[in-house]
This record gives sequence, structure tokens and C-alpha cells, in this order.
Amino acid sequence: MAVKFKAFIAGQWVESGSQGVLVNVNPANTDDIVGEFPSCGKEELDAAVAAAKAAQKKWALVPAPKRGEIIKKAGDLMVDRKEEIARLMTREMGKILIETRGDVQEGIDTAYYMAGEGRRLFGDTVPCELPNKFGMSVRRPIGVTAMICPWNFPMAIPTWKIFPSLMCGNAIILKPASDTPATAVKLFEVLLDAGVPPMLIHLVTGAGSKVGNAILDHPDVNLVSFTGSTQVGRKIAARCGETLKRCSLEMGGKNAQIVLDDADLDLALDGALWGAFGTTGQRCTATSRIILHEKIADEFIARFEEKASHIRVGDGLKPETQMGPLVNLSQQEVVADYVRIGIEEDRAKLVLGGQSLKDGSYAKGYFFQPTIFADVTRNMRIAREEIFGPVVSIIRVKDFEEAIDVLNDTEYGLSSSIYTRNVNLAFRAIRDIEAGITYVNGPTIGAEIQLPFGGLKNTGNGHRESSHTVLDTFSEWKSIYVDYSGRLQRAQIDTD
Ligand code: UN1
Repeated sequence: MAVKFKAFIAGQWVESGSQGVLVNVNPANTDDIVGEFPSCGKEELDAAVAAAKAAQKKWALVPAPKRGEIIKKAGDLMVDRKEEIARLMTREMGKILIETRGDVQEGIDTAYYMAGEGRRLFGDTVPCELPNKFGMSVRRPIGVTAMICPWNFPMAIPTWKIFPSLMCGNAIILKPASDTPATAVKLFEVLLDAGVPPMLIHLVTGAGSKVGNAILDHPDVNLVSFTGSTQVGRKIAARCGETLKRCSLEMGGKNAQIVLDDADLDLALDGALWGAFGTTGQRCTATSRIILHEKIADEFIARFEEKASHIRVGDGLKPETQMGPLVNLSQQEVVADYVRIGIEEDRAKLVLGGQSLKDGSYAKGYFFQPTIFADVTRNMRIAREEIFGPVVSIIRVKDFEEAIDVLNDTEYGLSSSIYTRNVNLAFRAIRDIEAGITYVNGPTIGAEIQLPFGGLKNTGNGHRESSHTVLDTFSEWKSIYVDYSGRLQRAQIDTD
């Protein structure tokens, strides 16, 4: 009998959904059923939004330091439950245990950072042009905020959105990815145990085509915060445009690591291995292109291939495993298809991997070999399209200028990296790279929560998650003028 997980709607844990059930399986072993989840639709969403709307009005009146205390408590509970949540997360989406622990840690970091905002939530005070007049700005809540989240960071990404939104005084509707509802249930248990009002937060598990669309169409949902593919993000933005919902989008990437000829090659190799194959390449920050100065290219490729060939692929719960499976069958098929495209259409040189793993202990999972293409040129599809798997394309360049040009020649602009010992070139790269994040002598993955997270071009629509900048997504500004002169004072009007 599969474990039955529940959705959380209007203060109740509910076992059945109007759209039936979703079955959640372990991608390392499909015989292991993690659980069954309600598949929600419009009916559940309507109930959730009605309750959220009423509860939000009360929550907005709770002093922000008090809201912060509840969020701090949520962080404490996540510390206590870190191991339990991490193990469940590995079972439901496959990444290795040290990474799922890191995913929970990112949620804890956000909780503590946002709890501190309870005593900040800074606005401005400014001088007024007229005498005896006072000017200031304050943040107001937005109302009912919905989060549509991906499966690759099942705790970090929902908490990036939920904690700041709660801090700003909003209600929450969370639609987790269909592949990772169990982690979302654990997050909701944390929130409720920490003292978040039950009518304020709602967990609607289910399909994007059902409950996701119901969110987009609901007139009382004021904001949609989405992380996922650019293709889906475009559709969400168009629909939010019709009802004028605020919409924040975090989407695809085609992140590159540049290695110049003066770089510390050992360091650059370690960075490339972690950036390309960490999380089985399923991060929006993953390194999917490596741009090598021609002078070090042959040595780098040979050593990279050698190191990557030793990566131990397997069940993420086993301590010896270094790379887990892909999240599901369709992702495994997409990755295999890109390898075919790389070989047949692009005629790139496959130097390592390229196959789904199917024998022995791999038979029941969605495993894929670490895969490296060399002799890739910038126009090939494998150099341009987001693959979201352990596939990396290596491009050779003759100098720094060409490296930057190739790096920027993409529709995306999330993360980027350059390995060099030359401080002047490092600063030129910081200036010239068109991306929301640039690392110097570090891999493209591993953003910390106290700096803004987001990207340019087709990666985003101008919003940033994390740091204090995320508060701008989840709040409205109000400007306040207090005139204590006791007479009509007219701004901008010339007086004699
Ligand atoms: C994502 O892949 O959507 O910077 C988020 C990183 C992580 C977050 C990744 N802290 O790689």
C-alpha cells in the first residue's frame, strides 16, 4: 500500500483531489513508490484562494517582527528535520544526499535571513521640498501570492518564495512540481508547526494543466511566482498579462565556464566537474558549456574526460554515489535525444558517455552517463538549447574577447564563470558578461541566498529572488506625505 500524502487546503489536510491521484516514484528505483498525492483542480484552488484572501487581511496586521519570529521558528524546525527531509527528497527526485541536505540548508538560510527582515523591511524617509512636510515610503503586502515550483530544488525554491512573501504580509498558494510533492508536504508541516496561521497557506498538489491553470485564471490571485522552463514561463506571463497579475519568472539557462590559458587548471577542472555533473546537470545554473582557451584545451579535455569517467553514478541514498539519476523517464529521453542531436545533427565529437544506464543496479532507474562533447561550435543545438542533464559542450576559443563573445551568444543569461589569475581580465569579464551571476574562479552553481538570484534575456523578466531585493517582488510600495504646516501647500507650483 502506497503511503497517502495529503494536500493542505483551507486549514485541512485533504486526502482526495477532484482530479484523482498522482503517484510519486523513486527515480533511482521505480519499484519504490514514495507515495500517492491528491491531484487538485479548480475546486480545491477556489476553496484555497477564498480562505487565503480572508486570512491575509489578518496576517497583514501582525507586526512584522512577530511574523519574523514565526519564520525563525520554521528555520529551527528545518534544522531539526534536515536529515529526514533530505532523505525523502533524495527518494523522490534522486539527487545525492549531500545535495538534498544542501537544498534544505538553503531553505534554512532563507528562513533566518528573512526572519531578520521582520525588524527591517526598510523603506525610505526623504526630505520634502515644502516646509513642515514629511516624506516616507513603506512596503505593503500584495495579497494572495501563488508559487509554481520545479522539482530540482524542492525545498530551496519554494522557501525562496514563501518566506519573503510571508514576511511581506501575503497569503500563500504553493503548487509543487508533480515529481516532488512529498518535500512540499514536509515544508507545510514545518510552517504549521512554526505557527503560521493554517488558513494563510495552502498546498495544492497536482498537474500544471489542471491546478496550475486554475491559479493563472483566478481573479483573486494577485501574484504568480514561477521557476521552470522558458517555454512554460512565456505562457504563464501571457496569461498573467490578461488579468494583470504580477508575475515573476525564473527560467532557463545555458551557463558557461570560461577557462583562460593562465588559469589554475586543477581548480578549473574541479569547478567544471561540480558545475556540469552536480545535481546530474539538473540545475538552472548548471555548467552546460565550457569555453576553453585553445592553448590549454587539449590538456583540459583529456583531464576532464579522465576525471568525469570516474564519477560514480547510482542511488543518491548510497554514500558512495556521486551522481544520482535523472528525475523521470521523460527527462532521460530528452537527454538521450540531445546526445543524438549532438552526434547526428551537430556532428560534435562525443568524448565521454552518451548513454542511458540500464543494466544491473541501474535497471529500475533513470540513470545517464556523464557526457562530454568536444569540438562544439556556438551554433550547434547542443551549444544553444537547455538540456537539463549531465551533458556538457566544450568550445575552443583563441582569446579572452572571443571567449566573452561566445559566452554571451545565447538567449539565456543566468550564471557564468571565468577561471583566470589575471585580475584585469576578471574585472572585464564581470563588466562584459551578460548574466545575472558571474563567478570568478568558482563554478556556475552554488549561489548564496544573501545576493540577488536571477537572470537576463530569456532567463527572467526582471525580478530577483533571494537577498533583500526579493522583497520588491512580494510587496507594493506606498509613498506617504505628512503635511504639518496647517495650510495648503502646493508642490511644483511657482510662488512669487
Ligand atoms: C536552480 O537550479 O533553479 O545556485 C536553483 C545554485 C543553487 C540554486 C539553483 N543555489 O546552484
